[in-house]
Amino acid sequence: MDLSGKNYKAFIERQEALKKQYSPANAEKQHSKGKLTARERINLLFDSGSFEEIDTFVTPAQQTVEFGKLERTYGDGVIVGHGKINGRLVFAYSQDFTVMGGSLGLVHAKKIAKIQEMALKMGAPIIGMMDSGGARIQEGVASLSGYAAIFHNIINSSGIIPQLCVIMGPAAGGAVYSPALCDFVFMVNRTSYMFVTGPNVVKEVLNEEISSEELGGAEVHGRKSGVAHMIYEDEENTIMALKKFLAYLPSNNVENPPVHADDGSTPDINEKLRDIVPDDPNKAYDVKDVINLIIDRNSFFETAELYAPNLVTGFARLKGKTIGIVANQPKVLAGVLDIDSSTKGARFIRFCDAFNIPILTLEDVPGFLPGKDQEHSGIIRHGAKLLFAYSEASVP
Ligand code: HXC
Repeated sequence: MDLSGKNYKAFIERQEALKKQYSPANAEKQHSKGKLTARERINLLFDSGSFEEIDTFVTPAQQTVEFGKLERTYGDGVIVGHGKINGRLVFAYSQDFTVMGGSLGLVHAKKIAKIQEMALKMGAPIIGMMDSGGARIQEGVASLSGYAAIFHNIINSSGIIPQLCVIMGPAAGGAVYSPALCDFVFMVNRTSYMFVTGPNVVKEVLNEEISSEELGGAEVHGRKSGVAHMIYEDEENTIMALKKFLAYLPSNNVENPPVHADDGSTPDINEKLRDIVPDDPNKAYDVKDVINLIIDRNSFFETAELYAPNLVTGFARLKGKTIGIVANQPKVLAGVLDIDSSTKGARFIRFCDAFNIPILTLEDVPGFLPGKDQEHSGIIRHGAKLLFAYSEASVP
């Protein structure tokens, strides 16, 4: 390589400009809000030194268009690439809120779409770390076409590779629909929020005052809307949990999940079950005690713990192999099936079926919840989803 040449000099200049872009001042903007930078998140997620970034030096599409105080930015507000997580190939993108609020312009979108297509081709999971104000207003309809490409890719890959999203700041406007189409959504408590229209629009249209947290914080999406499956207190713990979660899943729909060492536990199930499950069918008990009795020690990873807790779902290991668990929870509403638990169970079962994960069902259910509310809100329509999912499933 000619180290004195023009190209090399330009390369060094670009590297220097990139370093400035990831300046301590920009990092401080994130840290002051209790958030990490896009690059810190990537570094935490991947095995050390394994991440290969692509399209680092692309620049925003609208640079050629006259408008505002746009500065030259490399990467267009998103880091994309691939690397290893616990030794397995994974693709990821990480939005950078310090570049135009992580908003999605055309080039930003093309980078995400490209990495999605690479993940599908390689049969490897993809993780999106979201921190974005939605469609980049300045780029108008070009941003919307960018979203169309991203959504199309998610749908195309659905059931073929696991697709996970982590919300690490705002996910506003179009930014909410990538997570919604993905398999599992992680949120960070108090620093992340998701809404189609924000508090300002709510105020203008409905004349209602509401904070971002009340409208679309992690608590709301974990407990009420069911959009978020897993919630953690800070970004470090969220990323650690995500890595642990990934270890239950296969890389794609033609592989089996990784097998872990058999922990050798052989509990005396019959004896202990007698202590947990009461003779009186009207007495409640915690089905999670039963789950923990059956599975490998400490291997239960519950999904959507806060949403519809009358049905428990999650992954576990039996003799080192991943299984999915669906269990009525007699401790909550006597384990009755309602609309929320039906849709929760159906979605989980369909994921297991797509990814070769056997399902263990623990059934102790008084039936579907009676009443006007449930009937009028469509228990027939939503309950049918649970029947459909079980009937369609071809895993053991
Ligand atoms: C361009 C944006 C932006 C966007 C934020 N920014 N969102 N730039 N397009 N969508 C910029 C801000 O102008 C600001 O730039 C910087 O990012 C940081 O934003 P702040 O507002 O200072 O941050 P904060 O107070 O934390 O608020 C974050 C926010 C808010 C809640 C996300 O910025 C916001 O409400 N943004 C607009 C959200 C929105 O309406 N999105 C919908 C887009 S339409 P400076 O230069 O001042 O630092 C859409 C439809 C898609 O997405 C439909 C697809 C199906």
